[in-house]
Amino acid sequence: MLAMTSIRDRRGLDVAAVRDHFPALSRTLDGRTVAFLDGPGGTQVPRACIAAMTAYLERSNANHGGAFTASVETDALLDEVHAAGADFLGAHDPAEIAFGPNMTTITFSISRALGRDLRPGDEVVVTRLDHDANVAPWLAVAEDRGASVRWLELAEDRATLDLDGLDVLSPRTKVVAVGLASNALGTVTDVGRVVDAAHAVGAIVYVDAVHAAPHLPIDVSLLRADLLVTSPYKFFAPHLGMLYGRRDLLEKLAAYRVRPAGAELPGKLEVGTQNHEALAGLLGTFGYLEALGSAYGDVADRSDRRGRLRAAMSAIHAYERGMSLATLERLASVPGLQMHGVVDAAGVEERVPTFSFTLAGHRPREIAEHLASCAISAWDGDFYAWELVRALGLEEDGGLLRIGLVHYNTLEEVDRLHDALMEL
Ligand SMILES: Cc1ncc(COP(=O)(O)O)c(C=O)c1O
Repeated sequence: MLAMTSIRDRRGLDVAAVRDHFPALSRTLDGRTVAFLDGPGGTQVPRACIAAMTAYLERSNANHGGAFTASVETDALLDEVHAAGADFLGAHDPAEIAFGPNMTTITFSISRALGRDLRPGDEVVVTRLDHDANVAPWLAVAEDRGASVRWLELAEDRATLDLDGLDVLSPRTKVVAVGLASNALGTVTDVGRVVDAAHAVGAIVYVDAVHAAPHLPIDVSLLRADLLVTSPYKFFAPHLGMLYGRRDLLEKLAAYRVRPAGAELPGKLEVGTQNHEALAGLLGTFGYLEALGSAYGDVADRSDRRGRLRAAMSAIHAYERGMSLATLERLASVPGLQMHGVVDAAGVEERVPTFSFTLAGHRPREIAEHLASCAISAWDGDFYAWELVRALGLEEDGGLLRIGLVHYNTLEEVDRLHDALMEL
């Protein structure tokens, strides 16, 4: 495991020590340190990730399954990263983890494979809050197979899902696709309730945990998700997608694959050659998170990788709670700013620190450009949360301005954001 300088201080997460691990965070533009408030689009990576990628490319770069040293080392790396991925997601079997280029590609291929069993009259359920990568693949497969689509609608607050609408599920429902956290508003959905309703009618639940993974400990056995997908590039690792699937379900899945590829897990889901250097980087990132967890976890947590990773994500979650409260307060004091999403302090448990707003008299792109001129990176637009932005009536107006914080962001950066917005 990575040796780490003290990452803990008496007040909680020592964010200065955290930031030392992320070389990109010291970048300056016109003499100002860049504030990376663009995490939901992709996060920066720790040195341990970069070092692991470099070491792989310098020493062990090979295809897998060969008799020679670099290939044997690559096989060991692949085994290890599946095991670490299982620990990160609370799975109990490394074969339940499969990698791919990104979440969208994985979701298209899983939906195609599940779709082989869909019949006319069957139903799939999607939501108005999800990123389109957890909607469009299901709409496409339903259309191809003559299945129907049912929607979980937004609640009146237009920030959360109306889970009373789960009564649309019926014995005809085969798949329910739902997000754990909204990449546009930061809302965390009670996926346990969705799982209860889906399992009661025999449906499979496909959870998009892409936006939750950098912020919360995820435990697939507690969530009881059948399939759950993340994008490591959103949690401090290289560009990749990572899937968890219940073993019995994956074993039965009629995945599309080439004939010489074996039917064993996880290989049957990992079509073509994987991005080995990125997987090496992901292992480096898990090492960084383990070190964070060692500094925070109690003795029991520290004894294994699963405990260390869980402790790291719990520490991150605790730090981010405080950041959410401070950010909500700062944004509330900007004249003309309208927040979308859960805004009251009491709701801080139901959100991650992703904040979207509009500002009277300014299009989101204009705000993003002004922030960029202040060396603050932030995204504007619909972030592919297409249904939501349409429901908010904002698609003609350039969507929203989104501020996404992660555990390396600081209060000082939030103050800089506030000051930059006040200039407008
Ligand atoms: C919540 C959510 N789901 C899915 C995706 C798509 O992920 P990927 O870029 O890995 O395909 C994103 C990317 O922004 C996202 O935020």
